[in-house]
Amino acid sequence: MSSPDPVTVMKQEVGRAAAARVKSGSIVGLGTGSTTAYAIQFIGERLASGDLKDIKGIPTSFQARVLAKKYGIPLISLDEADSMDVAIDGADEVDPNKNLIKGGGAAHTQEKIVDSLAKEFIVVVDDGKLVKSLGSTFLLPVEVLPMAMTPVMKALENLGGKCDLRMGVKKAGPVVSDQGNLIIDVKFTSIDNPAEMEKTINNIPGVLENGLFVDVADVVLVGEVKDGKPNVYEL
Ligand code: A5P
Repeated sequence: MSSPDPVTVMKQEVGRAAAARVKSGSIVGLGTGSTTAYAIQFIGERLASGDLKDIKGIPTSFQARVLAKKYGIPLISLDEADSMDVAIDGADEVDPNKNLIKGGGAAHTQEKIVDSLAKEFIVVVDDGKLVKSLGSTFLLPVEVLPMAMTPVMKALENLGGKCDLRMGVKKAGPVVSDQGNLIIDVKFTSIDNPAEMEKTINNIPGVLENGLFVDVADVVLVGEVKDGKPNVYEL
């Protein structure tokens, strides 16, 4: 069997580092994406080995729910949680102020609800996600009610954005979110004031949530491959 490539090992290590910070008795927000998937796996492995006890997870997506079940993490809903100790989630871009763009997996609406409720939100990324300014490498995902797609696109274009309806892979037609909505990916030349932009976009009637996460992240764990070996550091 061939060994995994350095990038995969690095994602595993950053997921492991986040999972290692979870304490017994915690309620844990379980994020979405390929990096967080490893954190979910390692939380499950710690539970199975007895290193971790009495953990309850709150999933941010269908994917997180399926992985939690696979790795034996008991789940609860937000209705059953008085508070949440920690959330672990990936990101598509991270700026120097720990502001994020999320939504590459179309899960940013539930992610923002869960991640922002956690006492500590730990972001797990590889160093390719670090940017000077949000929007420089990744399009901004906006979740929109299907009947409002056209007016929302016009409103986003009036804000200077170039809109693309996200299309499915191995599925004809658009990506449909876990909530049954559509995702518009928007290219802005620059996002100078992410806090203002987040509010302005969410004020457009028909928008459910956009992928700007401002002042939500507490800790950013970054994985890098150095001299062919994976390394994890805190931003
Ligand atoms: C899901 O909608 C996203 O916010 C993910 O958390 C983000 O795309 C990071 O995913 P990867 O860890 O797979 O890059």
